[in-house]
Amino acid sequence: MVISVQPWLEIGGDERAAQILSGRIRGIEPRTRWVAADGDVERAEGLGIESGVRRFDPAVEGEMVAVPLVPVSRIRLSNAKAEDGGGADGEQDDDLVALRAESEAFYHRSVMPEEVMAALKPGPGRWFFDGTVGGGGHTEDILRSGGNVIGCDQDTDAIAYASERLKGYGDRVRLVHANFSDLDRILSDAGHPQVDGILLDLGISSFQIDAPGRGFSFMRPGPLDMRMNPEGAETAADLVNYAEPAELARIFREYGEEPAAQRIVQAVLHARENSLITTTAELAAIVESVIPRTSGRHPATRIFQALRIAVNDELRRLTEALEKSAGCLNSGGVLAVISFHSLEDRIVKRFMREHSEKTIDRPEWPNPKPNPNRYFELLRRKPLEPEEDEVSDNPRARSAKLRVAVRI
Ligand SMILES: C[S@@+](CC[C@H](N)C(=O)[O-])C[C@H]1O[C@@H](n2cnc3c(N)ncnc32)[C@H](O)[C@@H]1O
Repeated sequence: MVISVQPWLEIGGDERAAQILSGRIRGIEPRTRWVAADGDVERAEGLGIESGVRRFDPAVEGEMVAVPLVPVSRIRLSNAKAEDGGGADGEQDDDLVALRAESEAFYHRSVMPEEVMAALKPGPGRWFFDGTVGGGGHTEDILRSGGNVIGCDQDTDAIAYASERLKGYGDRVRLVHANFSDLDRILSDAGHPQVDGILLDLGISSFQIDAPGRGFSFMRPGPLDMRMNPEGAETAADLVNYAEPAELARIFREYGEEPAAQRIVQAVLHARENSLITTTAELAAIVESVIPRTSGRHPATRIFQALRIAVNDELRRLTEALEKSAGCLNSGGVLAVISFHSLEDRIVKRFMREHSEKTIDRPEWPNPKPNPNRYFELLRRKPLEPEEDEVSDNPRARSAKLRVAVRI
């Protein structure tokens, strides 16, 4: 399999070097995100490429964000080889090698790992539920501390990937393909109905965004799918082509907070009169025909977010999981939730507030009353946000908010 230099991958700004690499590096397993570069600084300079990779990640909320060079020290050599023979121009580029970023970096880079561990306080003998295993980064941090993890992800790819990555931890980790809204059943089935911590790191992984076949990104042509669970019934194309106009407008307005929702629905209806809308590129073009592109966010950002939330029923699943969380935690157990947009964060914030306030009050009551649904204590009211260093290293972390509540 020949890897091509993806649109998001720019090598050193030297087009010729990028072309050589794009046609000539092979031996890449599918589902692996590769970076191409030359590990030898001097030779890289000679070839006019950088000794690392400058990557643009348009998937980060649709903006073109420059990601700093991946330091060579954090890249390890793979067994992939440049194709034999000379380059298009006879260049001796056999030495060019494919370099594989460390697994966390190319499947998904865990967000706020230190803050999450400080909140969960994992350790030997303690059990945790990771409802969003993804690439397994946070799970592995818990395992490294000696803790045990029952984990789930609704994406079969994530479970396959993380199971392989974490197999060395034996039965200290148990991963299942499931939705985190079923956490009570998952934990009971695993024989640990109450755990010492629950982690939900919401949204999608970099792997999901970057895989064109999954249809999450308007920057990558692909089928209009967006199901995190590949076995899910409804795709984004189903919604776009068959939902009632009023339902589509609601989705765009409520989940995308898109001011031009109605006009975009009209454009969608017009387009679908002629033929079905089946690709990310078609939908992005329809949105762009209504909202012209400017230098800011890509005009399709909100619409793609809205459809993703609808297809995966994200807000309802989150609400269900939160409501079950108190019943699944030991006293002193920690609920930690990382959200990436205001709709999610609002739900988490309200939930934690409603279930931590000592008293509740109503205008019609003479005095406040004790809160009968007080299950949690908040150590801080404001969410934790990533440090600047983390954001510059991993721009996807930029909008992360970590909220933590402790089971009373
Ligand atoms: C941001 S990634 C998690 C990354 C992970 N913490 C790590 O360190 O690699 C989010 C993951 O959660 C999964 N996910 C999102 N909503 C889910 C849900 N309701 N149930 C199960 N998995 C879900 C996605 O499929 C994705 O793999």
